[in-house]
Amino acid sequence: MTINRQWVLKSRPTGMISEANFEYKETPLPGIDDGELLVRNLCLSFDPTQRGWVNDTESYMPPVGIGEVMRAGSVGQIVESRHPDYKPGELVQGTGGWQDYVVATPGQMMSASKLPQGVTPELALGLFGITGLTAYFGLLDLSEPKPGHTVLVSGAAGATGSVAGQIAKLKGCRVVGIAGGPTKCQWLVDEAHFDSAIDYKNENVAERIAELCPDGINIFFDNVGGEILEAALDNLAMNARVILCGGISAYNSETPLPGPVNLMNLVITRSRMEGFIIIDYLHRVDEFVADMGQWLQEGKINHLEDIQEGFENIPNTLQRLFTGQNMGKQLLRIADPT
Ligand SMILES: NC(=O)c1ccc[n+]([C@@H]2O[C@H](COP(=O)([O-])OP(=O)(O)OC[C@H]3O[C@@H](n4cnc5c(N)ncnc54)[C@H](OP(=O)(O)O)[C@@H]3O)[C@@H](O)[C@H]2O)c1
Repeated sequence: MTINRQWVLKSRPTGMISEANFEYKETPLPGIDDGELLVRNLCLSFDPTQRGWVNDTESYMPPVGIGEVMRAGSVGQIVESRHPDYKPGELVQGTGGWQDYVVATPGQMMSASKLPQGVTPELALGLFGITGLTAYFGLLDLSEPKPGHTVLVSGAAGATGSVAGQIAKLKGCRVVGIAGGPTKCQWLVDEAHFDSAIDYKNENVAERIAELCPDGINIFFDNVGGEILEAALDNLAMNARVILCGGISAYNSETPLPGPVNLMNLVITRSRMEGFIIIDYLHRVDEFVADMGQWLQEGKINHLEDIQEGFENIPNTLQRLFTGQNMGKQLLRIADPT
């Protein structure tokens, strides 16, 4: 009998999420009804937002319940179909979770959509997945990058930040990235063609922002929050845009962290700070695919995939995002397509 390996949520983390918060289980293969697909997960996406999904608080999605399979983005291959438009062997993208097999229902949000021809599971979850989409719409819908603008990106060597910065470069901006450690900073300048990089683990961020952005920041794409957000707010140009994409510095904090003390700088500089959630843009995915497909074909976007292996390593792979071990889009390959 084929079994379905799963990682379920055992306890809600306080502080850093770890393998101890999850339990390994083996269950029988699920059956399917009319309109459903049985999908074998091939590749899992790891996203900082998963840390929020295991808190017992309502957010833009309901929390994962104790005993439930951990929610995760995935690409899988259809092994059985009772839906007229989907055939066994086809690759689909959805929210398959930390398990080998999932029952998916095409038509339901984030359940099963076919991969475009020629797109690999890794590319579908990475550059053409949620993080690429987030970089594209976060930057281009919440701000208007213009030639000569100074754009600052935090979490710059990550999946979202690296793409946001490169799109800003394509729009003619001068781009400064903030990332942890010399290797990531070197990659930003040498491979992703950022103009400069600030190593927040080894440099004084506030001083370096002031040095590298002498005329102020026109656009700040923030993935981190906390002290880095505060340092950026001290260096805004007039009419700046502060895009709140995420605040990873606080995701594993046991107590709420204080907000920036200098929000009045938004008033002084007549600037706007705005957050967004990418699921509101899913209906516009075709605009993104058209632009990103062309940029990729023209060699204008450089992206990294950090691919881990092994079902047993799933919980620890999520932690890599919060320790900065990942270099590029964090994925884990469970199986190859047949
Ligand atoms: N608004 C939305 O709809 C949306 C959608 C997707 C993602 N996001 C947000 O985008 C951000 C990036 O997500 P991603 O999936 O692209 O992950 P990622 O950037 O590929 O990986 C996370 C990175 O965050 C950095 N980091 C971890 N802890 C940190 C801390 N305490 N201070 C500063 N940096 C820290 C690490 O890089 P270093 O080595 O440089 O520290 C790590 O590599 C997250 O905040 C996420 O929540 C938002």
